[in-house]
Amino acid sequence: MKRTEFLSTLGIGIAAACTGCLAACGKGGEGDPGGGGIAPPVPPAGINFTLDLNTDIKSVGESKTTNGVIVVRLAASNEIASFTAVQVACTHEGTAIGFNGAQGNFVCPNHGSIFTPAGVVTQGPAVINLKKYTIAIASNVLTVTG
Ligand code: FES
Repeated sequence: MKRTEFLSTLGIGIAAACTGCLAACGKGGEGDPGGGGIAPPVPPAGINFTLDLNTDIKSVGESKTTNGVIVVRLAASNEIASFTAVQVACTHEGTAIGFNGAQGNFVCPNHGSIFTPAGVVTQGPAVINLKKYTIAIASNVLTVTG
């Protein structure tokens, strides 16, 4: 076999192998649960911080990110149901999500994944829900744990 013939054969073999790999990667296999070819971020754990509702996130739709957690005011009253707290890193490839007040959901600016205020995926490419954190409120101090 001539050298050029050998390299040609090798090239076809590598191309076939790479095609198979790319097809597997794009489907989000067992080692790729985020579906983006990059392992999804590990949500922050051991979270415990407070916000002063006299000064923080006073307007509906306003948010504040602390320790990898985004807290959003969903309604005017200072009760637990008026807030949500989820991991800020998108479960697809880790880009910081933002809250779209007009649509009432979280949107990832990188590839367009959408999550409900509770962190549930409603549009991919993300396939994993955001981690939701526990909120408590006492004397206008909001505490996030989880
Ligand atoms: S990083 Fe891809 S949708 Fe968020």
